Amino acid sequence: MIKLVPHGDHRGQLIAVEEHKDVPFDIKRVYYMYDTVEGVRRGFHAHRSLEQILICTHGSCKILLDDGSEKAVVDLDDPTKGLYIGNNIWREMFDFSPDAVLMVLASELYDEADYIRNYDEFLKFVGKSNG
Ligand code: TYD
Repeated sequence: MIKLVPHGDHRGQLIAVEEHKDVPFDIKRVYYMYDTVEGVRRGFHAHRSLEQILICTHGSCKILLDDGSEKAVVDLDDPTKGLYIGNNIWREMFDFSPDAVLMVLASELYDEADYIRNYDEFLKFVGKSNG
């Protein structure tokens, strides 16, 4: 978890995120999810090489992280929390509040070939498969 420092004053809050300072990679792409329908769970993939930082800039959601051996759930409920996710980590996003805006900073442009969308294939990729 990366603690982002707000520059707050009497006008309100402002957070700046800079590559190679707050984020350990070149930021090549930014995308965000909003108007997520209640009860939706999404993600269900890992990346072969992509690195990302997830920031819930408004509202809240939960992120399941799975390295093939251990699972953890992280609450993103504060815009000062930046969640770094390296490659080879299975992730699922869920429990979005109706007002949630989940912003993602990514180290590469969109490339479907970098996705592993099948959980068994993911386990094989990280060497945790019994099969
Ligand atoms: P999808 O991969 O289904 O999202 P999730 O992270 O929940 O698995 O992405 C939804 C759609 O958006 C899909 O058609 C691909 C497209 N998309 C882009 O065009 N560019 C992007 O950077 C991303 C993340 C998705």
